[in-house]
Amino acid sequence: MIYLKTPEEIEQMRAACDLTSRTLAEMAKWVMPGVTTHKIDSVAKEFILDNGGRPSCLGYGGFPGAVCVEVNEVVVHGFPSSYTLKEGDIVGLDVVVELNGFNGDMCYTFPVGEVDEKVMQLMLTTKESLYKGIAACREGSRIGDIANAIQTYVERKGYTVVREMCGHGIGRKMHEDPEVPNYGRRGTGPVIKNGMCLAIEPMINLGSRNIMVERDGWTCRTKDRKPSAHYEHTVAVHGGETSVLTTFDYVQEVLGDRFI
Ligand code: MF3
Ligand code: CO
Repeated sequence: MIYLKTPEEIEQMRAACDLTSRTLAEMAKWVMPGVTTHKIDSVAKEFILDNGGRPSCLGYGGFPGAVCVEVNEVVVHGFPSSYTLKEGDIVGLDVVVELNGFNGDMCYTFPVGEVDEKVMQLMLTTKESLYKGIAACREGSRIGDIANAIQTYVERKGYTVVREMCGHGIGRKMHEDPEVPNYGRRGTGPVIKNGMCLAIEPMINLGSRNIMVERDGWTCRTKDRKPSAHYEHTVAVHGGETSVLTTFDYVQEVLGDRFI
């Protein structure tokens, strides 16, 4: 069941997404060698609570953190831990914030210090593919158009698309219908309608597309242990336009010329 949002509800989504975006920027300040992912998680949790929000991931199906942490080969749903970031790592930080009953969901993959050029290119392409997906998200188009735009863009550059994990509708719940895959055929899937709010989130691998879930029941990593990148925005379709409700602008302010 796809819940279409009223203009008022979309304004509430916008507020939640703004807090989500500012939370990501708070975390960005701590992405550097020597910092544990626990530290980054606690910075986010405190910032969210101080601003009247709720970290939606915390306790969701038993998830132990406020943020999902994706170091190198981790695709999604990694736990914050005592792992210390080191030069050359990449780390995806995926955060969902609820404010006044609505959720914002976003993810950014950060380089930690100097990162191998091949891996930088993977990140750049994944981020660009997110915007290709957003550009294909138009009233009257279909979910498969978003999926196909992402898949075509990254596969042409030699990367692979994770298939088991998808984007999703979002609103009062962090996961709503429809599913938004990152691969598929144009002209297939649900029609995109006014009032839809979607989390679009390509997860793209340097090596093979295959993933596995670790024994903790959550952490997804690539089977070949090659790196994976992940970027995510929450968007709304309204008044015949698509608005990106989350923003990387605050992250850019923090990173300056380290922003990719
Ligand atoms: N953005 C992630 C997703 O859409 C958030 C997961 S929170 C978790 O799957 F608690 F499920 F890990
Ligand atoms: Co999501």
